[in-house]
Amino acid sequence: MDKKTNKSIKTNKKPNKSNKTDKKTKKTNKNEFNNITIIGTGAWGTAIAKVLSESGNNVTMYGVDNKEIKDINQHGMNKKYFGQSKINTIIRATNDIDKALLKSKYIVFALPSAFLKDILKILKNKLKHKVIFINLVKGIDPSNKKPWSFTISKILKDKSSGLASIIGPSFAIDVFNKKQTIVNVVSKSDSVCKKVADLFSVPYFRVVRCLDEVGAETIAAYKNLLAIGMGMVFENTKSINTISAVLTQGIKEIEIISKNNGGKSSTIIEFCGIGDIFLTCTSDLSRNFTFGKNLYRKNSSKSFKLSKSTVEGYTLYSIVKKEIIKNKNLPLLKSICLVLSKEVEPKNIVTNTFELINKTTTQN
Ligand SMILES: NC(=O)c1ccc[n+]([C@@H]2O[C@H](COP(=O)([O-])OP(=O)(O)OC[C@H]3O[C@@H](n4cnc5c(N)ncnc54)[C@H](O)[C@@H]3O)[C@@H](O)[C@H]2O)c1
Repeated sequence: MDKKTNKSIKTNKKPNKSNKTDKKTKKTNKNEFNNITIIGTGAWGTAIAKVLSESGNNVTMYGVDNKEIKDINQHGMNKKYFGQSKINTIIRATNDIDKALLKSKYIVFALPSAFLKDILKILKNKLKHKVIFINLVKGIDPSNKKPWSFTISKILKDKSSGLASIIGPSFAIDVFNKKQTIVNVVSKSDSVCKKVADLFSVPYFRVVRCLDEVGAETIAAYKNLLAIGMGMVFENTKSINTISAVLTQGIKEIEIISKNNGGKSSTIIEFCGIGDIFLTCTSDLSRNFTFGKNLYRKNSSKSFKLSKSTVEGYTLYSIVKKEIIKNKNLPLLKSICLVLSKEVEPKNIVTNTFELINKTTTQN
């Protein structure tokens, strides 16, 4: 680990036992200290709300789905995502944005990227004080081709006392079920990294700081496109040689893009690097990976009717396909884009990639 940029965080806070959480929350309420507003009452927002609440913070969730809000407030559950499992009855949810923002010191974005800009505009008008923003939304803003954190800091410049992103191998269901998880907190500012890391102090959710915002955000966006390709590759072959080769090729190509954008080489071996790539590119819990698998199985344009808006790798494809297709150093990502633009059939993903790799090697 690069000692200058990436350091493990040790917090002084001790994890709360559930009966102690009440006391601590009351104390922080009184001081209006760690009041955290989470935008989005979906799977990731709820899992993160649970972690932050168990860490002794005062958590309010803002949502637009009244069924989810009612479920959280009346039953201490979010059945749509987590069945009958309890969250934490201290967490409150509301569809009233003014109420949600009132005492907020931190605002967490936990909604699909398609709705992020709407909420940024609302916050720009409604927020009366400065806060630290915590971004959980990965991907690229189509309007400027930059990571969403750039758009957040641009639109909310006057309302921001810092911005950090949480990126790493972390499916909501595993975090909800307290499975051991390590992620990076990524920010340009080390002091913001420390403040945000300090909010998470439960033993099963560890946060390691990383100052390479550009590298981490680039990897987080492009790994979704790679995951679509890996879904196809897993369907195409059972050869672990081939799967490992293609995955490694994908990691190399993402590193090239990250470095071209100004990211650091060392970030690829971080939790937000190889950790998140491995999770997204090998698990059926990944929407992008299963999208790739379905595309391969159907092997027809019908598969494109799958809900593309929630497949962030597909959104990225539509933004960056031209640049990728003309870049000779990206044979795998190019093959994935050619399949998505229906120029190569899914069943030819591996052969097409290897042909392009051979051409690249010959040219070298
Ligand atoms: N699910 C995961 O494991 C996971 C892990 C890491 C990161 N993420 C990221 O977190 C974000 C949210 O993912 P998710 O899985 O929780 O999605 P989800 O579909 O489970 O939930 C999205 C939530 O956002 C709400 N929403 C939609 N528009 C809104 C608006 N305008 N204002 C407020 N709320 C609105 C929806 O009602 C819903 O409650 C995505 O960007 C995703 O990439 C998810």
